[in-house]
Amino acid sequence: MVRLSVNVDHVATLRQARRGLEPDPVTAAQMAELAGADGIIVHLREDRRHVQDRDLYLLKDVVKTRLNLEMAATEEMLGIALKVKPHMVTLVPERREELTTEGGLDVKGKGDSLIPFLKRLQEGGIRVSLFVDPDPEQIRRSREIGADIVEIHTGLYSEARTGEEEERELAKIKEAVRWARDLGLSVHAGHGLNYQNIKGVAPIRGIEEFSIGHSIIARSIFVGIERAVREMIDLIRTCRGG
Ligand code: PXP
Repeated sequence: MVRLSVNVDHVATLRQARRGLEPDPVTAAQMAELAGADGIIVHLREDRRHVQDRDLYLLKDVVKTRLNLEMAATEEMLGIALKVKPHMVTLVPERREELTTEGGLDVKGKGDSLIPFLKRLQEGGIRVSLFVDPDPEQIRRSREIGADIVEIHTGLYSEARTGEEEERELAKIKEAVRWARDLGLSVHAGHGLNYQNIKGVAPIRGIEEFSIGHSIIARSIFVGIERAVREMIDLIRTCRGG
């Protein structure tokens, strides 16, 4: 069955607004799991603007489903990942000045330098996902350098302003999913997905898991995190037809 992993970064964003103790992303993760989330995601950024190291270590202890650590491909993060041993790591590009991850990894351009990086994670028993744009070349290179999973970047689809643009981006995503599946990769998708635009991507059969953060945490302010998670799961499964 198609899975939903919930990114709890923005609970940490709210906590860091006062540099205090609440709300705690660890509590949010536990409640998301109770509501049926299949996994928990955090992005430990170099500048620690939201998630802190303490969150990651606690999450490793308490998450009962799957913990996915999003991170940049740096030596510091590699050391942390090998110590914490999450279920999987998603490698993302990271720029200090960005508000959120702005695009997929350039595997086509920088792939070779990632080969030893992926190897060390995989030798540590960690599955590796690469966050890539829906571009067949990026996906082919991801397979060549040994990725287990690709997470297709849905950001441009989510930002589409017209129906035509949306259709064009959706077609790219569908083609990327087909390529990835044909190459034997597992396929996840995410970024910018919300309770409206999920309806376009949820029916795409090859996508095994969606990574969603901002829209779920935003809704949880009004309806509570358990209901927000449950509503997203119901939408995804209804659109998928089970
Ligand atoms: N996938 C990746 C690789 C991301 O970097 C993010 C944002 O942290 C997400 C998914 C979730 O995006 P959003 O918060 O827009 O749902």
